[in-house]
Amino acid sequence: MNIKQVTSIYFSPTGNTKTAAELIAGQIAGQQAQLDLTDPGRRPDYHFLENEAVLVGVPVYGGRVPAAAAERLKKLHGRKTAAILMVTYGNRAYEDALLELKLILQRQGFRPVAAAAVPAEHNIVRSIAQGRPDKADRKKLKQFGREVGRRFWELESNYRIGDLKVPGNRPFRKFHGVPLKIKAGPSCKGCGQCIRKCPVQAISRTDPKVTDSDRCIACMRCVRQCPSEARRINAVVLLAVKQKLKKVCAERKEAEFFMV
Ligand SMILES: Cc1cc2nc3c(=O)[nH]c(=O)nc-3n(C[C@H](O)[C@H](O)[C@H](O)COP(=O)(O)O)c2cc1C
Repeated sequence: MNIKQVTSIYFSPTGNTKTAAELIAGQIAGQQAQLDLTDPGRRPDYHFLENEAVLVGVPVYGGRVPAAAAERLKKLHGRKTAAILMVTYGNRAYEDALLELKLILQRQGFRPVAAAAVPAEHNIVRSIAQGRPDKADRKKLKQFGREVGRRFWELESNYRIGDLKVPGNRPFRKFHGVPLKIKAGPSCKGCGQCIRKCPVQAISRTDPKVTDSDRCIACMRCVRQCPSEARRINAVVLLAVKQKLKKVCAERKEAEFFMV
Protein backbone atom coordinates (compact mmCIF):
# COMPACT_ATOMS: atom_id res chain seq x y z
CA MET A 1 0.00 0.00 0.00
CA ASN A 2 1.31 3.37 -0.94
CA ILE A 3 1.20 5.72 2.06
CA LYS A 4 1.03 9.29 0.79
CA GLN A 5 1.81 11.08 4.04
CA VAL A 6 3.08 10.09 7.48
CA THR A 7 2.22 12.56 10.22
CA SER A 8 4.09 12.48 13.53
CA ILE A 9 1.68 13.64 16.20
CA TYR A 10 2.93 14.13 19.71
CA PHE A 11 2.37 15.62 23.13
CA SER A 12 5.92 16.17 24.35
CA PRO A 13 6.53 18.75 27.09
CA THR A 14 10.28 18.08 27.36
CA GLY A 15 11.01 16.71 23.90
CA ASN A 16 11.77 12.98 24.40
CA THR A 17 8.56 11.86 22.75
CA LYS A 18 9.05 14.21 19.80
CA THR A 19 12.59 12.90 19.26
CA ALA A 20 11.53 9.25 19.36
CA ALA A 21 8.49 9.85 17.15
CA GLU A 22 10.54 11.56 14.47
CA LEU A 23 13.20 8.84 14.50
CA ILE A 24 10.60 6.17 13.77
CA ALA A 25 8.41 8.11 11.34
CA GLY A 26 11.43 9.39 9.41
CA GLN A 27 12.11 5.86 8.18
CA ILE A 28 8.68 5.38 6.61
CA ALA A 29 8.39 6.28 2.93
CA GLY A 30 5.93 9.08 2.13
CA GLN A 31 5.68 12.79 2.69
CA GLN A 32 6.49 13.69 6.32
CA ALA A 33 4.41 16.06 8.45
CA GLN A 34 4.34 17.06 12.12
CA LEU A 35 1.55 17.93 14.47
CA ASP A 36 2.64 19.12 17.90
CA LEU A 37 -0.15 18.93 20.46
CA THR A 38 1.90 20.28 23.38
CA ASP A 39 1.30 24.02 23.13
CA PRO A 40 -1.71 25.45 24.92
CA GLY A 41 -4.67 27.02 23.20
CA ARG A 42 -7.59 26.08 21.02
CA ARG A 43 -7.02 23.86 18.02
CA PRO A 44 -9.17 22.66 15.16
CA ASP A 45 -10.18 19.07 14.40
CA TYR A 46 -7.71 17.16 12.23
CA HIS A 47 -8.88 14.61 9.66
CA PHE A 48 -6.78 11.83 8.17
CA LEU A 49 -7.53 9.58 5.20
CA GLU A 50 -7.06 5.91 4.43
CA ASN A 51 -3.97 6.43 2.29
CA GLU A 52 -2.20 8.22 5.16
CA ALA A 53 -0.52 6.98 8.33
CA VAL A 54 -0.05 8.65 11.69
CA LEU A 55 2.49 8.03 14.40
CA VAL A 56 1.03 9.14 17.72
CA GLY A 57 3.38 9.58 20.67
CA VAL A 58 2.77 10.51 24.29
CA PRO A 59 4.82 10.32 27.47
CA VAL A 60 3.72 7.99 30.27
CA TYR A 61 2.43 9.70 33.42
CA GLY A 62 1.74 7.29 36.29
CA GLY A 63 1.40 4.39 33.85
CA ARG A 64 -1.25 6.25 31.83
CA VAL A 65 -1.68 8.60 28.89
CA PRO A 66 -1.49 12.13 30.37
CA ALA A 67 -5.05 13.45 30.71
CA ALA A 68 -4.12 16.64 28.82
CA ALA A 69 -2.88 14.53 25.90
CA ALA A 70 -5.94 12.25 25.95
CA GLU A 71 -8.15 15.32 25.65
CA ARG A 72 -6.18 16.63 22.65
CA LEU A 73 -6.24 13.27 20.88
CA LYS A 74 -10.01 13.66 20.61
CA LYS A 75 -9.32 16.32 17.96
CA LEU A 76 -7.88 13.65 15.65
CA HIS A 77 -10.21 11.81 13.29
CA GLY A 78 -9.14 8.87 11.18
CA ARG A 79 -10.91 7.12 8.35
CA LYS A 80 -9.41 3.67 8.82
CA THR A 81 -6.08 5.50 8.89
CA ALA A 82 -3.15 3.29 9.92
CA ALA A 83 -1.73 4.32 13.29
CA ILE A 84 1.61 3.57 14.91
CA LEU A 85 1.37 4.06 18.66
CA MET A 86 4.30 5.12 20.78
CA VAL A 87 4.87 5.93 24.44
CA THR A 88 8.08 7.11 26.07
CA TYR A 89 8.66 6.47 29.75
CA GLY A 90 11.37 7.20 32.30
CA ASN A 91 12.71 3.65 32.68
CA ARG A 92 10.24 2.80 35.47
CA ALA A 93 7.19 1.28 33.71
CA TYR A 94 4.57 2.12 31.08
CA GLU A 95 1.82 -0.07 32.58
CA ASP A 96 -1.53 0.74 30.89
CA ALA A 97 -0.40 3.65 28.70
CA LEU A 98 -0.02 1.81 25.42
CA LEU A 99 -3.35 0.00 25.79
CA GLU A 100 -5.07 3.28 26.68
CA LEU A 101 -3.52 4.99 23.64
CA LYS A 102 -4.67 2.16 21.42
CA LEU A 103 -8.27 2.37 22.64
CA ILE A 104 -8.36 6.15 22.29
CA LEU A 105 -7.16 5.99 18.69
CA GLN A 106 -9.50 3.15 17.73
CA ARG A 107 -12.38 5.23 19.06
CA GLN A 108 -11.20 8.11 16.85
CA GLY A 109 -11.35 5.95 13.69
CA PHE A 110 -7.73 4.80 13.39
CA ARG A 111 -6.39 1.29 12.77
CA PRO A 112 -3.48 0.52 15.10
CA VAL A 113 -0.90 -1.48 13.14
CA ALA A 114 2.23 -1.18 15.27
CA ALA A 115 3.34 0.10 18.67
CA ALA A 116 6.48 0.94 20.62
CA ALA A 117 7.24 1.53 24.30
CA VAL A 118 10.45 3.51 24.49
CA PRO A 119 12.53 4.18 27.62
CA ALA A 120 13.77 7.77 27.73
CA GLU A 121 15.39 10.15 30.21
CA HIS A 122 13.12 10.64 33.21
CA ASN A 123 12.18 14.27 32.90
CA ILE A 124 11.67 14.75 36.66
CA VAL A 125 14.76 12.89 37.89
CA ARG A 126 17.07 13.42 34.93
CA SER A 127 19.81 11.14 36.24
CA ILE A 128 17.48 8.23 35.49
CA ALA A 129 18.02 6.94 31.94
CA GLN A 130 20.05 10.09 31.33
CA GLY A 131 20.61 10.93 27.68
CA ARG A 132 18.17 8.32 26.36
CA PRO A 133 17.17 7.68 23.66
CA ASP A 134 20.90 7.04 23.19
CA LYS A 135 22.82 5.69 20.21
CA ALA A 136 21.68 2.10 20.75
CA ASP A 137 18.03 3.20 21.21
CA ARG A 138 18.14 5.36 18.10
CA LYS A 139 19.34 2.43 16.03
CA LYS A 140 16.46 0.27 17.29
CA LEU A 141 13.87 2.99 16.71
CA LYS A 142 15.04 3.53 13.15
CA GLN A 143 15.01 -0.18 12.48
CA PHE A 144 11.45 -0.41 13.79
CA GLY A 145 10.49 2.49 11.50
CA ARG A 146 11.93 0.64 8.51
CA GLU A 147 10.05 -2.55 9.47
CA VAL A 148 6.78 -0.63 9.75
CA GLY A 149 7.47 0.93 6.34
CA ARG A 150 8.02 -2.51 4.83
CA ARG A 151 4.79 -3.76 6.43
CA PHE A 152 2.87 -0.92 4.77
CA TRP A 153 4.23 -1.96 1.39
CA GLU A 154 3.04 -5.54 1.96
CA LEU A 155 -0.48 -4.47 2.88
CA GLU A 156 -3.08 -4.28 0.16
CA SER A 157 -5.23 -1.17 0.14
CA ASN A 158 -8.49 -1.85 1.96
CA TYR A 159 -6.58 -4.45 3.96
CA ARG A 160 -8.02 -6.36 6.86
CA ILE A 161 -5.83 -6.59 9.88
CA GLY A 162 -6.02 -8.39 13.19
CA ASP A 163 -6.13 -6.77 16.57
CA LEU A 164 -2.82 -5.26 17.66
CA LYS A 165 -1.92 -6.82 21.02
CA VAL A 166 -0.21 -4.50 23.48
CA PRO A 167 0.41 -4.90 27.23
CA GLY A 168 -1.91 -3.21 29.73
CA ASN A 169 -4.87 -3.95 31.98
CA ARG A 170 -8.39 -2.69 32.46
CA PRO A 171 -9.63 -0.96 34.49
CA PHE A 172 -6.70 1.36 34.02
CA ARG A 173 -4.62 2.21 37.04
CA LYS A 174 -5.60 5.44 38.76
CA PHE A 175 -3.36 8.45 38.43
CA HIS A 176 -4.11 11.69 40.22
CA GLY A 177 -0.89 13.53 39.42
CA VAL A 178 2.40 13.86 41.23
CA PRO A 179 2.59 16.10 44.31
CA LEU A 180 5.32 18.35 42.93
CA LYS A 181 5.12 22.08 43.24
CA ILE A 182 7.18 24.00 40.72
CA LYS A 183 8.23 27.45 41.85
CA ALA A 184 9.96 30.41 40.26
CA GLY A 185 13.00 31.58 42.24
CA PRO A 186 14.50 35.08 42.54
CA SER A 187 16.39 34.78 39.22
CA CYS A 188 13.04 34.91 37.37
CA LYS A 189 13.16 37.93 35.04
CA GLY A 190 9.50 37.75 34.18
CA CYS A 191 10.15 37.09 30.46
CA GLY A 192 6.90 35.13 30.17
CA GLN A 193 8.35 32.18 28.22
CA CYS A 194 6.89 29.72 30.78
CA ILE A 195 3.49 31.38 30.55
CA ARG A 196 3.44 30.94 26.77
CA LYS A 197 4.75 27.39 26.83
CA CYS A 198 2.82 25.82 29.73
CA PRO A 199 0.66 23.15 28.00
CA VAL A 200 -2.21 23.65 30.45
CA GLN A 201 -1.99 27.40 31.13
CA ALA A 202 -1.26 26.88 34.81
CA ILE A 203 0.99 29.94 35.14
CA SER A 204 -0.55 33.34 35.81
CA ARG A 205 -0.60 35.58 32.72
CA THR A 206 0.41 38.56 34.79
CA ASP A 207 2.87 37.04 37.24
CA PRO A 208 4.97 33.96 36.34
CA LYS A 209 5.73 33.46 40.02
CA VAL A 210 2.13 32.38 40.54
CA THR A 211 1.33 28.82 39.46
CA ASP A 212 -2.08 27.24 39.82
CA SER A 213 -1.11 23.95 41.47
CA ASP A 214 -4.50 22.39 40.68
CA ARG A 215 -3.96 22.93 36.97
CA CYS A 216 -0.23 22.17 36.88
CA ILE A 217 0.52 18.65 35.56
CA ALA A 218 4.21 18.81 36.62
CA CYS A 219 5.26 18.07 33.02
CA MET A 220 8.54 19.95 33.64
CA ARG A 221 8.26 22.02 30.48
CA CYS A 222 8.56 25.35 32.27
CA VAL A 223 11.61 24.12 34.21
CA ARG A 224 13.31 23.01 31.00
CA GLN A 225 12.44 26.11 28.97
CA CYS A 226 13.22 28.83 31.48
CA PRO A 227 16.16 30.85 30.07
CA SER A 228 17.18 31.96 33.60
CA GLU A 229 16.85 28.48 35.13
CA ALA A 230 14.61 30.09 37.69
CA ARG A 231 11.94 27.41 37.84
CA ARG A 232 12.56 24.46 40.12
CA ILE A 233 11.01 21.70 42.17
CA ASN A 234 11.78 21.93 45.86
CA ALA A 235 15.17 20.18 46.34
CA VAL A 236 14.00 18.11 49.32
CA VAL A 237 10.94 16.84 47.45
CA LEU A 238 13.06 16.07 44.38
CA LEU A 239 15.46 14.04 46.53
CA ALA A 240 12.54 12.08 48.00
CA VAL A 241 11.22 11.29 44.49
CA LYS A 242 14.72 10.26 43.44
CA GLN A 243 15.04 7.89 46.40
CA LYS A 244 11.65 6.39 45.65
CA LEU A 245 12.48 5.75 42.00
CA LYS A 246 16.08 4.68 42.51
CA LYS A 247 15.44 0.97 42.96
CA VAL A 248 12.67 0.46 40.38
CA CYS A 249 14.53 2.42 37.72
CA ALA A 250 18.01 1.05 38.38
CA GLU A 251 18.04 -1.60 35.69
CA ARG A 252 18.22 -0.46 32.07
CA LYS A 253 15.01 -1.31 30.24
CA GLU A 254 14.93 -1.81 26.49
CA ALA A 255 12.44 -0.56 23.95
CA GLU A 256 9.62 -2.98 23.10
CA PHE A 257 7.95 -3.21 19.73
CA PHE A 258 4.63 -4.70 18.61
CA MET A 259 3.21 -5.30 15.16
CA VAL A 260 -0.03 -6.82 13.81
C1 LIG B 1 3.98 13.71 35.91
C2 LIG B 1 4.93 12.66 35.38
C3 LIG B 1 4.66 11.31 35.58
C4 LIG B 1 5.53 10.34 35.08
N1 LIG B 1 5.22 9.01 35.26
C5 LIG B 1 6.06 8.07 34.77
C6 LIG B 1 5.76 6.68 34.92
O1 LIG B 1 4.69 6.29 35.40
N2 LIG B 1 6.66 5.77 34.48
C7 LIG B 1 7.87 6.13 33.93
O2 LIG B 1 8.68 5.26 33.63
N3 LIG B 1 8.15 7.45 33.71
C8 LIG B 1 7.28 8.42 34.09
N4 LIG B 1 7.56 9.76 33.86
C9 LIG B 1 8.72 10.12 33.00
C10 LIG B 1 8.27 10.47 31.57
O3 LIG B 1 7.32 9.54 31.09
C11 LIG B 1 9.46 10.47 30.57
O4 LIG B 1 10.52 11.23 31.03
C12 LIG B 1 9.00 10.94 29.18
O5 LIG B 1 9.95 10.50 28.23
C13 LIG B 1 8.84 12.44 29.06
O6 LIG B 1 8.44 12.75 27.74
P1 LIG B 1 8.60 14.19 27.07
O7 LIG B 1 10.08 14.54 27.11
O8 LIG B 1 8.14 13.99 25.67
O9 LIG B 1 7.78 15.16 27.86
C14 LIG B 1 6.70 10.73 34.37
C15 LIG B 1 6.96 12.09 34.17
C16 LIG B 1 6.08 13.05 34.65
C17 LIG B 1 6.38 14.50 34.39
